[in-house]
Amino acid sequence: MGQKKLFVDFLYHEIERPIVAQIYGKEPEYFYTAAQVACELGFDGVDINMGCPAKNVASSGSGAALIKTPDLAREIVLMTKKGVTDFLEKGFNPDSAKLKRKVEETKNKLSELGVNFGDKNKQIPVSIKTRIGYDSDITEEWIGNLLKVSPDAITLHGRTLKQLYGGSANWGSIARAVELIKRNNLETGQETIVLGNGDISSRNEALTRITESKADGALVGRAVFGNPMFFKGENLNNKIEAFKIALEHSYLQEKVKGKDSFVQMRKHLAWYVKGFAGAASLRASLVRTSSAEEVKQILTEELNNSEGIDNSILTE
Ligand SMILES: Cc1cc2nc3c(=O)[nH]c(=O)nc-3n(C[C@H](O)[C@H](O)[C@H](O)COP(=O)(O)O)c2cc1C
Repeated sequence: MGQKKLFVDFLYHEIERPIVAQIYGKEPEYFYTAAQVACELGFDGVDINMGCPAKNVASSGSGAALIKTPDLAREIVLMTKKGVTDFLEKGFNPDSAKLKRKVEETKNKLSELGVNFGDKNKQIPVSIKTRIGYDSDITEEWIGNLLKVSPDAITLHGRTLKQLYGGSANWGSIARAVELIKRNNLETGQETIVLGNGDISSRNEALTRITESKADGALVGRAVFGNPMFFKGENLNNKIEAFKIALEHSYLQEKVKGKDSFVQMRKHLAWYVKGFAGAASLRASLVRTSSAEEVKQILTEELNNSEGIDNSILTE
């Protein structure tokens, strides 16, 4: 729903494929519709968020709070899958004219961005991202519950909801989940993929975690914030490199999502300048910006003051 004309969070670029739309909520029928929207917009998969601990999500029973309502969690998976299979059979025909219009507007914008909507006859996978429990580790019970509805993939963050992001991720629990899922695959012929998540700080560490846990892969969150070179096994080495990427990211944000959504960029700007001398005041200015031009001005001035670098180094 919402007031915006477009689904701004569902805008993407071809270069991001395979790209998965993630949904959070607690109403099975909304998941049905959202899955159909994801299909219509050309996504390569739909992921259900059963891992978010944030108050605005979990306090209403969505995200990681679904661990407490296992029957509802399964129903949500089934309705998401039904959304995908019905889309294949009947296409996208929502009752709501408003929703139809919003999807059309979003598709127009995606076309403008060069997205080609892919093969409409391909059934996209439905996956789940979750945690090991609500307030205690119930990996086996919870994963066992999810396997009953055969998700195509499960990503497990090795913490409970209660832990938020504190302590360390329990990769032992992830390894136990991998074992359970692989055994279930053998017994049932299902092909559920399992991915581990939590506290990975480098590409090499990801590879070690994958080998040790026997997972099919790993997801990385915080280590990528402000460091898009992560997946190449590289880092942004100095202030100038970081500023150039931060500015490029800002212009892309504006181009793809428009000035109205520039607030989404603010957290990224704070991450890009983390750790530099004088970062606190720089961060304070950057988190108030509303356009890439403003970011350019602030970063140029900072390079001028701190490094004596002239105005031309940062360009669009
Ligand atoms: C600011 C922030 C936003 C996040 N947003 C999402 C989200 O929208 N969906 C999701 O599945 N996980 C989200 N996560 C969780 C991460 O995907 C990941 O599970 C968690 O940070 C642990 O992995 P890490 O140690 O590699 O960061 C978010 C985490 C943070 C810190």
